[in-house]
Amino acid sequence: MTMKTSRIHAFGDASVIRYEDVPQPRPAGGEVLVRVAATSFNPTEAALRAGLLQAFLPVDLPYTPGWDVAGTVAETGPGTAGFAVGDRVVGRLEAAGAAAEYVRAPGALLVPAPASVPLAHAAALPLAGLTAWQAVFEHGKVTAGQRVLVNGAGGGVGGFVTQLAKRAGAEVIATAGARSTRAVLRQGADHVIDYTAVPVATALDRPVDILLNLVPLSPHDAADLASAVRAGGRIVSVATPVEPPVEAGVKAMHMVARNDVAQLAELVALVDAGEVTLDISASHPLADLADVHRLSDAGRIRGKVIIIP
Ligand SMILES: NC(=O)c1ccc[n+]([C@@H]2O[C@H](COP(=O)([O-])OP(=O)(O)OC[C@H]3O[C@@H](n4cnc5c(N)ncnc54)[C@H](OP(=O)(O)O)[C@@H]3O)[C@@H](O)[C@H]2O)c1
Repeated sequence: MTMKTSRIHAFGDASVIRYEDVPQPRPAGGEVLVRVAATSFNPTEAALRAGLLQAFLPVDLPYTPGWDVAGTVAETGPGTAGFAVGDRVVGRLEAAGAAAEYVRAPGALLVPAPASVPLAHAAALPLAGLTAWQAVFEHGKVTAGQRVLVNGAGGGVGGFVTQLAKRAGAEVIATAGARSTRAVLRQGADHVIDYTAVPVATALDRPVDILLNLVPLSPHDAADLASAVRAGGRIVSVATPVEPPVEAGVKAMHMVARNDVAQLAELVALVDAGEVTLDISASHPLADLADVHRLSDAGRIRGKVIIIP
């Protein structure tokens, strides 16, 4: 049996992605076969496609992207007693592959999908949600009453960061352009700075305790943002590392998010409780994955974009 997939055949521009037939996989021990309802686009996939990540995230070609998966269990492999055909699941797959009609998934990486949103929408949650969770709680250590600057709040990760920082009781100052302002306010931001109109640090009346940076930055913009953090404050970046201001006692770190099913289950529970919403800005058919990469390359993606086989 064959299935449709969108695969990267070489490193380069978006034209290296081909929508094509491949054999449908079978689950091995500890795995289930998931009928994909959706994956979601993550911009790191565009960097991977361009060949920029080979040094620390080497992949073999052809490569099927898709770290996020939401779908239903179509077949169970040996050693997956906790799963039954038809279960609705969501997860972040280390080996990717969800840009396809079906994907093999280790059962250990899957949790029940949220019941309160369409199954395909749940694909927006794993990678971006886990990154946000770890940025806010583990590395940012955001607590009630702190002033937190979320740089890049309009993006896929930013929507979750804003909501989780608010949940922690912080005052959230978000940077967003006009196209994302409404969404960011809906997610609970207390103030929005239009980064397209002013240098962010100049728009603040006083320093922040924590900067959570979600945007690749020039050295000049990174220094401008870092200057907004109070002495003894904290900087966490998931994109370009941001150097702390000299001699200000600011702790700065760059983080790479890890997989964590317990945290993912907590995010699912927050979605079902209506406490975290999914900012899905667009949905595209799997056949158009190359176009989604073109939009990303042109800076024309905001929020989360889901990809439907
Ligand atoms: N380290 C890790 O583990 C990890 C994990 C996931 C993602 N990442 C990285 O984290 C970054 C964010 O990921 P994502 O999925 O949120 O990306 P994304 O959805 O593609 O982010 C796009 C958003 O970035 C905003 N933006 C662009 N330039 C900006 C600027 N100068 N200032 C403020 N906002 C700006 C835009 O906001 P407007 O709409 O407001 O214009 C846009 O909505 C990416 O670089 C990604 O590769 C790292």
